[in-house]
Amino acid sequence: MKIIVAGTGYVGLVHAAVCSEYGHEVYAYDIDIEKIDAFSSGRSDLIEKHVNEPGLTNIIRETLNKSLFFSTDLKSIVEGTDAIFMCLPTPPNIDGSTNLTYYDAASESIAEALANRKDKRRIVVVNKSTVPIGTARHLQGIMNTHGVENFGVASNPEFLAEGSAVVDARKPDRVVVGCDFDEDFKILRRVYSQFVNHVRIKYIETTPETAEAIKYVANTMLLTYISFWNGVGAKIGENMPNVNIDDLRLGVTADERISTWGSFVSNGAGGSCFGKDIASLIYQLRRANVSTKMLEASYEVNEFQKVYLVDRAITEAGFKFNNKVVAVLGLAFKKHTNDMRDASSIKVIETLLGKGVAAIHAYDPLANEAAQAEFDPSKNILFEKIRYFNSAREAISGSHALFISSDCEEFRGFSRTIEDTVKPPYLVMDGRRMIPDYDELVSKSYTYLAVGSMAMAPNEPQAAAKNVKLKSVAG
Ligand code: UDX
Repeated sequence: MKIIVAGTGYVGLVHAAVCSEYGHEVYAYDIDIEKIDAFSSGRSDLIEKHVNEPGLTNIIRETLNKSLFFSTDLKSIVEGTDAIFMCLPTPPNIDGSTNLTYYDAASESIAEALANRKDKRRIVVVNKSTVPIGTARHLQGIMNTHGVENFGVASNPEFLAEGSAVVDARKPDRVVVGCDFDEDFKILRRVYSQFVNHVRIKYIETTPETAEAIKYVANTMLLTYISFWNGVGAKIGENMPNVNIDDLRLGVTADERISTWGSFVSNGAGGSCFGKDIASLIYQLRRANVSTKMLEASYEVNEFQKVYLVDRAITEAGFKFNNKVVAVLGLAFKKHTNDMRDASSIKVIETLLGKGVAAIHAYDPLANEAAQAEFDPSKNILFEKIRYFNSAREAISGSHALFISSDCEEFRGFSRTIEDTVKPPYLVMDGRRMIPDYDELVSKSYTYLAVGSMAMAPNEPQAAAKNVKLKSVAG
């Protein structure tokens, strides 16, 4: 099949690469010439500057100019195409609604190119990135306005998680395809022939609107589940004496109906999808005059969770942030990525700066550069107080407190580095429960404060005893 993938962000590029592996002739199209030049160079340093996903560069290098081609000229690649996948950025507007500016601009260009094609074979225009329920219908309108002939629209949402996107695309749980016509289902069955009638993968055919809704319900369900653990499980561990959150999690998730994923309490979930999608679904349902209390609660718990450890440090550990140096470890929204979108660290750092800290010592194994762009001092003069370090050890050196904000492996069992580098009184705020041997720290007079447990201060050994042990960490 001949496929065009419009938009070469991480969704589009991964989809294009994996389709090219499966023997299709794939054209990845973008208006950004620098990106297209980088990808078509086949050079890993240039490719990874734009999209850094494990395994992706190898596929691109193997299929480049054989089954995978890059282009900025839609008209020159459109003839003979069976399906066009729309993988455009859909950022949030301030009111939570989805900003379709990029999407609409690309749809217009595609409609224009399709209206002028010589070959009038059936073509399906497919929404792959997350777009509001009803957008396939909107796309159909754009195509009709331009006089495109013999086309269908479809919704085929992606369910990729960053860091495992290539694995997820090669072996999805499910493929969801929403179309209006049999002939369009047929084209997409040929595109995804390796997944149809698969022993494990669910291949689901439905209406475009249902497919769009599946994506929103899946993502808001995942965030709600995380928020349930943060808003209920973690709060029990933090407020009820002698409750151990890790044992609580193990006991509850032993029921195979209750997922282990999402049960790791944290200082909030970030990333490019969860916050944006829940805000968009709230907006869409409000417009339909539906109560959105449940979604609002999930969203609010997640936002609260991002920074409340800072307040707990003041109220429970009596820490005064004014003029202190605080190390923030883990800047990206999770491990194995440099993605800063909706990362909890943003709120943590802004809150700490608001409390008058003298300096922030920031460190992330992958995201220091992206963080520098995020915390651009031209946006906020206080960002000048942030200094970036090449290791966690260097970042905590000279600090009075540290905040672990993501689940990078290197922060697990970090207690020895803390002991070797900074002396008590010292406050450890652990947003990811990364330090299983925290009792060593408390016994040496460090103060330890984690999501899901009561504060453990050196002069309150009974508090540590109350929380028993901390053996698992967020994953
Ligand atoms: C998510 C969905 O998993 C994916 O299906 C969808 O297509 C896009 O959004 P992603 O944003 O890449 O993927 O990250 P994910 O691994 O799901 O983690 C999201 C956030 O939740 C991270 O900040 C992570 O650290 C946090 N998280 C995850 C928890 O706080 N606790 C957990 O138990 C699991």
